[in-house]
Amino acid sequence: MTFPKDFLWGGATAANQCEGAWDVDGKGESIQDHMRSGGRKQFRVMTSTIEEDSYYPSHDGIDFYRRYKEDIALFAEMGFKVFRLSIAWSRIFPKGDEAEPNEEGLAFYDKVFDECKKYDIEPLVTISHFELPYALAENYDGFSNRKTIDFFVKYATTLFERYKDKVKYWLTFNEINFGTLPLGGRNLLGILDEEDDEARRFQALHHMFVASAKAVKIGHQINPDFQIGCMLAYMTMYPLTCKPEDVLANQELVKKLNWFCGDVQVKGKYPYYMKNYFAKHGIQITFEAGDEEILKEGTVDYYTFSYYMTSCATANIDENGDRVGGNLFGGVKNDYLETSEWGWQVDPVGLRFSLNELYDRYEIPLMIVENGLGAVDKVESDGSIHDDYRIDYLRKHVIEMDNAIQDGVDLIGYTSWGCIDLVSGGTGEMSKRYGFIYVDKDDEGNGTFDRSRKDSFHWYKKVIASNGEDLATE
Ligand code: BG6
Repeated sequence: MTFPKDFLWGGATAANQCEGAWDVDGKGESIQDHMRSGGRKQFRVMTSTIEEDSYYPSHDGIDFYRRYKEDIALFAEMGFKVFRLSIAWSRIFPKGDEAEPNEEGLAFYDKVFDECKKYDIEPLVTISHFELPYALAENYDGFSNRKTIDFFVKYATTLFERYKDKVKYWLTFNEINFGTLPLGGRNLLGILDEEDDEARRFQALHHMFVASAKAVKIGHQINPDFQIGCMLAYMTMYPLTCKPEDVLANQELVKKLNWFCGDVQVKGKYPYYMKNYFAKHGIQITFEAGDEEILKEGTVDYYTFSYYMTSCATANIDENGDRVGGNLFGGVKNDYLETSEWGWQVDPVGLRFSLNELYDRYEIPLMIVENGLGAVDKVESDGSIHDDYRIDYLRKHVIEMDNAIQDGVDLIGYTSWGCIDLVSGGTGEMSKRYGFIYVDKDDEGNGTFDRSRKDSFHWYKKVIASNGEDLATE
């Protein structure tokens, strides 16, 4: 086995999916607090007001806000070297445009980081995980307004200054490439309008690139040891057939979906193919004076991504292939792969392929910051949970990470998604569980919220202790 000795093993969460306490200690409403449950296997629905009779899963999350000590102790028991979490922007700036931050919000994360330090767990902080303060969406139209760049930079600077001695690893925006998609753009960019306007969407994304680059530059000035990365949903796509038209269609899609955002954030400039795309579609991106320079100066130190599934693309989508699901973006079915209960195609070998593609393109350290299997778990009468399907999924992905490292890829860490069960980002369900730690809560928010260890908990503990050598299932 080849994992480097300081490999960062751990798990990942996001504030809106685990903290709960959505309106306490001065926290403002975030976009996620307006997403009511969509029902079984249905996407959540955004509401302009908080409806009394509806259930909003972020409002109670899994109560990490009050139980963080117990949860971090469990992560430590598994031997985590790193814990990826996000900061709820609206805990720090409740409406997003205040002159001063909310001290109670800042104090909460001090406590969380101190708890991590107690166990030598390195925090990895996502500055914005789809958690824009709702007021910035309502009053400013989110990132489509250039002013939101300044609000973000002020927020990020506040975090860098406050936690400069407690946090080394940062990510600016979660899955920024969802901003290239009509549906994904809604949460990420803070545009509430149901009507998609492609030009506005890409302008908003441009503002996010500038905001991220400014934050990277300022972060490095505040603490030159900071490692500040980008984060993308890496959606590996294969041509449905070897027909050249399918190969070309796949390349087109992959450029826009996977490469565009990474190219800007790693290489510091817009790639030729997007300039061409914009010209062809009559889209004019407004670059203000200094934008080009800041993109160059604010390139990231490492590249991180989520990896759950792969799918196929074809030149003739209407005639070919069955559709399959995915986190916001599906594709055409690949007959060689199995799917999860939520229709996501499981593809461990695709992870090795993706790691090689990414490293070849960027030649900077890579980290997988989300990966895992959303599945329904059964609690036995003695309280045990035998999640061998999850162990199988993770084990196969770890083997391919190892293979990629042997290929020469500089992979520095792995944080599996939802290391403790949390509300699903897409649907808000609790029954779509990813964790090593079970949380007693159902889809309607009922339960004791008590934590318990699944079989995968003990398996992952062994994996970390052996630095990826012992992957045995028993
Ligand atoms: C990623 C998001 O897209 O997918 C997470 O960053 C999300 O927030 C994860 O939870 C898994 O998606 P879901 O819908 O199964 O929770």
